[in-house]
Amino acid sequence: MSNFRKGSFGLLMLLLLLSILATLVVVDAGISVPINGLMIHYYEKNTTCKSAEYLVKLEVKKMWDLDHSITPALLRLAYSDCLVTGCDASILLDGKGSEKTAPQNSGLRGFAVIDRIKKILEDKCPGIVSCADILQLATKEAAALAGAPKYPVYTGRKDGMKSNASTVDLPPPSISWNKALAYFKLKGLDVLDLGTLLGAHTTGVTHCRYIVDRLYNFKNTKKPDPSMNSTLLNQLRKSCPRTTKPGQVQDPVVFLNPETNSNYSFTNSYYQRVLDHNAVLGIDQSFLSSTDGFRIAYEFANGFQDFKLSFSLAIDRMASLGVLTGDKGEIRRNCRFINADNPGNFSN
Ligand code: HEM
Ligand SMILES: *[C@@H]1O[C@H](CO)[C@@H](O)[C@H](O)[C@H]1NC(C)=O
Ligand SMILES: *[C@@H]1O[C@H](CO)[C@@H](O)[C@H](O)[C@H]1NC(C)=O
Ligand SMILES: *[C@@H]1O[C@H](CO)[C@@H](O)[C@H](O)[C@H]1NC(C)=O
Ligand SMILES: *[C@@H]1O[C@H](CO)[C@@H](O)[C@H](O)[C@H]1NC(C)=O
Repeated sequence: MSNFRKGSFGLLMLLLLLSILATLVVVDAGISVPINGLMIHYYEKNTTCKSAEYLVKLEVKKMWDLDHSITPALLRLAYSDCLVTGCDASILLDGKGSEKTAPQNSGLRGFAVIDRIKKILEDKCPGIVSCADILQLATKEAAALAGAPKYPVYTGRKDGMKSNASTVDLPPPSISWNKALAYFKLKGLDVLDLGTLLGAHTTGVTHCRYIVDRLYNFKNTKKPDPSMNSTLLNQLRKSCPRTTKPGQVQDPVVFLNPETNSNYSFTNSYYQRVLDHNAVLGIDQSFLSSTDGFRIAYEFANGFQDFKLSFSLAIDRMASLGVLTGDKGEIRRNCRFINADNPGNFSN
């Protein structure tokens, strides 16, 4: 009950307080969030590729009509790109030992979505629109189609030249709230960003291997995670059997939020599920282990508008991490290769 009262302290106050704190942290870390040399409508205002954003929007709509699951695919790609060496499209690079080969990035999807948009843009206006911007713009469009707010995306990013799996420090789903928070702070994000961005787990899937510990052997107790609602436990145990019989899919996937399931819609139902002990990943259930986490979950469970507002701010902050602008980086011709390694380059 006392947590509940503190919860009604108000999101706006929390927002204000935290964004002030965040600014200090961020200045300390020498990273300037949120703008960082980026601007609204960079392509329209500063380049000859005026219709870049519109073209991204058109292509995303076409692909989303065929497959709604591009929304979680792109959200996760954006997260995996930005938290590791900044939003420099390093996650998109192919090659031996690149970031996408790191174990934390297995199961990443959506690369073909980016390739297709890039192809359209290269045909229309070659060498102008960065892969890093395409990823952020496409994520915004796909999220908006699923029900997320149409948040503004600052643009003008350049693409990075390096991608090394050994730089991938993304935490595992069994991480505690406090450790996840320390990780986010290290990157220049704060507790409200963590609580808000985890809301992206309102849509999409997880492989069973990330939750079998919670289902069968939590912290080596040989028992399930006591914080998991027993109805959910039974349901997930059916989808993620302890041992698979011959002919069964190895390591199948389950929905991160069984309520939005195959609609892949963006809602705030995730937060009510957290409060009801119905979260699927350990990190998602860990909100309740922290006073701030509880307040955030409570606030967003009861206010989709609050969540949407906070999501716009938090994803903007994430999308500004470590961006390259000006003469740092390049505009890749193919998002999978730096220009010097582009196999389509021989003709030059
Ligand atoms: C501590 C932070 C986080 C942890 C530990 C975490 C962990 C995970 C794990 C284990 C999966 C399942 C991956 C798979 O089986 O293929 C997943 C999926 C996903 N994550 Fe996170 N995540 C975190 C933060 C975020 C953030 C900040 C975002 C976006 C803003 C995000 C968006 C997603 C989405 C959309 C999916 C579903 C992907 C799909 O359907 O293919 N996650 N996450
Ligand atoms: C965009 O153009 C304006 C006006 O020419 C200029 O001041 C600004 O620095 C440019 N921004 C970027 C990111 O190139
Ligand atoms: C990646 O980083 C590791 C550790 O710094 C280094 O040993 C390795 O050579 C790098 N790989 C590439 C492809 O640059
Ligand atoms: C999915 O969306 C359709 C159409 O909006 C709706 O009728 C259906 O109930 C939704 N399913 C779930 C599980 O939310
Ligand atoms: C378990 O989940 C149901 C809804 O599926 C909810 O009504 C109930 O309160 C939850 N139990 C606990 C202990 O949170």
